[in-house]
Amino acid sequence: MWIIQSNYNDIETFYSSLNTELHSLIEGEKNLIANMANISSWIYHAMPDLNWAGFYLWDENDQELVLGPFQGKPACIRIKPTRGVCGASYKDNKVMRVDDVHSFAGHIACDGDSRSELVIPLVKNNKVIAILDLDSPKIARFSEKDEAGLTLIMKKIADIIL
Ligand code: SME
Repeated sequence: MWIIQSNYNDIETFYSSLNTELHSLIEGEKNLIANMANISSWIYHAMPDLNWAGFYLWDENDQELVLGPFQGKPACIRIKPTRGVCGASYKDNKVMRVDDVHSFAGHIACDGDSRSELVIPLVKNNKVIAILDLDSPKIARFSEKDEAGLTLIMKKIADIIL
């Protein structure tokens, strides 16, 4: 049994613990989908004020992102690299932190409650293989510290799970 303790008030400690916890969660497991499922669940339950947390995987044949494991309401299944915050993150291999999704041209509203968003590419051999997408019903939910903490963790995790 996993016990998810969240000490989000101390954000440095939170991300240091999250790093350790996610590494324990995936230790010894090679299946990408299983690892992404558990990672999205852990993040969704550990971080306050999220309404969606999950992955999109790049489909080389179809040349678009396809919905992967997630927590939250059902979401759009396929996203072209020219569309939305996720598409921009994929296309530019860039972390996207959007304070107000209503002012982001082309934002795809999967869940009407979403107001801010953080998208982090997962890279292997200089190629984006997947993206992690976090949505919040709060405007400007994600800080620079969230971006830095999660980006570092995803960099290390990508080396293991991809
Ligand atoms: N809002 C995203 C689409 C994915 S859902 O939020 C889960 C976007 O604009 O790319």
